[in-house]
Amino acid sequence: MSKPAPAPQNGRDLTEWYTSFGEGEARGQSAVYEEWALGVAGDPGIQALLMTMPLQKRQPNLIFATSRLLGAPVGAYGPFRDWLVENFAAVAAEAEHRMTQTNEARRCASLLPALALIDGPIALLEVGASAGLCLYPDRYAYSYDDGPVLGDSRLVLESSTTGAVPIPEALPEIVWRAGVDLHPLDVLDPDDMRWLETLVWPEQHDRRERLLAAIEIAQTDPPHLVAGDAVTAVAALAAEAPDDATLVIITSGVLVYLTAAERTRFAEQVRALDARWISLEGRGALPDVESRLPEVAPAGMAGRFVLALDEHPLAFTGPHGQTLDWF
Ligand SMILES: C[S@@+](CC[C@H](N)C(=O)[O-])C[C@H]1O[C@@H](n2cnc3c(N)ncnc32)[C@H](O)[C@@H]1O
Repeated sequence: MSKPAPAPQNGRDLTEWYTSFGEGEARGQSAVYEEWALGVAGDPGIQALLMTMPLQKRQPNLIFATSRLLGAPVGAYGPFRDWLVENFAAVAAEAEHRMTQTNEARRCASLLPALALIDGPIALLEVGASAGLCLYPDRYAYSYDDGPVLGDSRLVLESSTTGAVPIPEALPEIVWRAGVDLHPLDVLDPDDMRWLETLVWPEQHDRRERLLAAIEIAQTDPPHLVAGDAVTAVAALAAEAPDDATLVIITSGVLVYLTAAERTRFAEQVRALDARWISLEGRGALPDVESRLPEVAPAGMAGRFVLALDEHPLAFTGPHGQTLDWF
């Protein structure tokens, strides 16, 4: 999932939130979502409806995906608005039990070089796993900078790089994989998968194709996912990992959902494990990673994620694994 817009305090109004989503996140990514967001930003009637929902449920990405799931016409704002007014009760009820939890397999193209720095065999544990599609870095194929394809999967994850990326010559040996999520999605459940697909924005056809291919791969060997909170569940799940493999914890696009205090407690939990930790998170998510970033970050790095191993930064990455700029 793309990173959610931060939940505003009650004082921040929906005009600001939806304008920022439309002009910031959606522009250049989805013309439909940009138009819808800017439409809502200037529409007191729709805002009054949204204000009847709990604060975290008013976020643009959730409202738009839920609406599409329920059949909203994907196009100009006017027909969408009419549909939303008519179907608002259903949208609010559906959003009540939905969360934005986009799962992006292409992030494995960023994780792979970090995994290659760790001696295997590997026991892989993802925190905030969604449907677990990032738990299969050994089942996908890769091509960096249009170079030779590594792996024989039909899903080839492409990434463009700068710097001396330690691209491995072989895929990692993963002998155990498991994940924890507040609300795990089941690759064998058609309703869960339809939601995951709807979380991909309307015009992002490549992402949709990649998602469907990754789901198919995961369906052949569904991941072991448990429902639980990052802070309280990670140690118990780690205890299930085999002793004769290197335990690797991965967090990818999840720490933004934790408060600063929760992130601190989570980091303490992970440091206490006999494990390596690969994080792929937005800037500032982990203070120790942030403080170790190179002083002069390359230009154009705003909005990038930071790939780190044991809280030591390795690279900036595109948020969906599309670029990898090694330090
Ligand atoms: C943006 S998705 C990322 C999924 C996957 N890591 C990826 O990179 O594709 C974030 C996931 O974190 C989960 N999540 C959020 N807060 C959590 C928490 N406190 N504990 C466990 N999972 C959490 C959400 O349910 C969601 O599935």
